[in-house]
Amino acid sequence: MNNFELYNPVNYIFGKDQVQKLAELVPANAKVLIAYGGGSIFKNGVHEAVTKALKGFEVVEFGGIEPNPHFETLMKAVQLIREQNIDFILAVGGGSVIDGVKFISAAVHYDGDAADILRKRILFKAGAKVIPFGTVLTLPATGSEMNSGAVVTIAATQEKLTLGGSALFPKFSIVDPTVIISLPKRQLQNGVVDAFTHVMEQYLTYPHEAFLQDRFAESILKTLIEIGPNVVENPSDYILASNFVWCATMALNGLIQKGVPSDWATHMIGHELTALYQIDHARTLAIIGPNLYKVMFETKKEKLAQYGKRVWNLSENSVEENAQKAIEKTIEFFHIMGMKTKISENAENIENTAEMVVKRFQERGWNALGERQNITLEKVQEIVEMSY
Ligand code: NZQ
Ligand code: ZN
Repeated sequence: MNNFELYNPVNYIFGKDQVQKLAELVPANAKVLIAYGGGSIFKNGVHEAVTKALKGFEVVEFGGIEPNPHFETLMKAVQLIREQNIDFILAVGGGSVIDGVKFISAAVHYDGDAADILRKRILFKAGAKVIPFGTVLTLPATGSEMNSGAVVTIAATQEKLTLGGSALFPKFSIVDPTVIISLPKRQLQNGVVDAFTHVMEQYLTYPHEAFLQDRFAESILKTLIEIGPNVVENPSDYILASNFVWCATMALNGLIQKGVPSDWATHMIGHELTALYQIDHARTLAIIGPNLYKVMFETKKEKLAQYGKRVWNLSENSVEENAQKAIEKTIEFFHIMGMKTKISENAENIENTAEMVVKRFQERGWNALGERQNITLEKVQEIVEMSY
């Protein structure tokens, strides 16, 4: 097992009606900015519950953080915080709102061009001067409620870039599984597939001796396969909802990646598809993931076969056959989850996508991705072309 440090300071508060605890969680006398998205929180009662719980606090609101949050929008909130002397931010929403708040938190005291936070991948280590924030999660998918990473799009240049660092963990996250009742089916499907792929990125590499991490990963995958199709149809079933939400958090709160190699190339390529064609994040992963496993088959086949046997109960004759079948099972599952696994089924005029993605990677110096750094630009080209 590789050496690791496990640091996760998030006070994770799970269950029904937990939003009432906000008054104890937000620092006393803090001036609070409530940040939210396009308005779903006004329709499902979350805004009302939050403002009720924060009665007595001085509150300012900032709405309009879009899915795949835009740097340009977030900078307006940065300005507002500077003008209004805000002490604490409360992100109320899905991954986009929470990620947006992580960026805002980092940018307020950042000297210089805030776009550099993204372009130069500035790391905000513990102790960095940031605005503290908490979250009220409304969409299980990204794990952003319990990790310190974020993804922000610079709309002007269509770049989708990451930021993070241990200063950017939420102070707390309130995670009430009943919030998924108001989610459109499409977002429920996205949540399951995003969480599933997060596990795959940290699991589907090469065999190693971190047995427990493998079992953690496999148990999350099996649970998502078991509950995914049903939770999409019955989001008001609390048993399904609570297990789904917990899977999504566990998939990307840092635990399963400790001591093991990880890949993340599916996400890196997928982010470009969102930046270019606005395809939902999870849907880009369902397109790219299986093709990446095919192109990188030789170096991933042992782990693919293990995944096939343990997660899909396969018992083919050889490593290759189990691995092949495991990829087929994954694609089948994504189809059951409502994904369309070709770029052309999700966007138009896509002929030059592979060249565009490769060019962007080249410009950023991303010449080698994946757990073995063997996903070269030629491989990226092949993966994207296979996805047309
Ligand atoms: O904006 P509102 O009106 O709130 O509507 C949202 C949005 O339209 C709606 N929604 C959220 N909760 C709802 C709801 N509608 C009804 N009822 C509710 N309870 O859902 C739509 C999508 O929301 P969004 O936050 O964009 O979705 P998601 O949570 O999937 O986040 C996606 C973003 O997270 C990034 C993605 O790249 C993308 O930008 N990621 C962040 C990661 C991280 N921080 O660790 C990792 C992920 O891999 C991912 O890259
Ligand atoms: Zn993701």
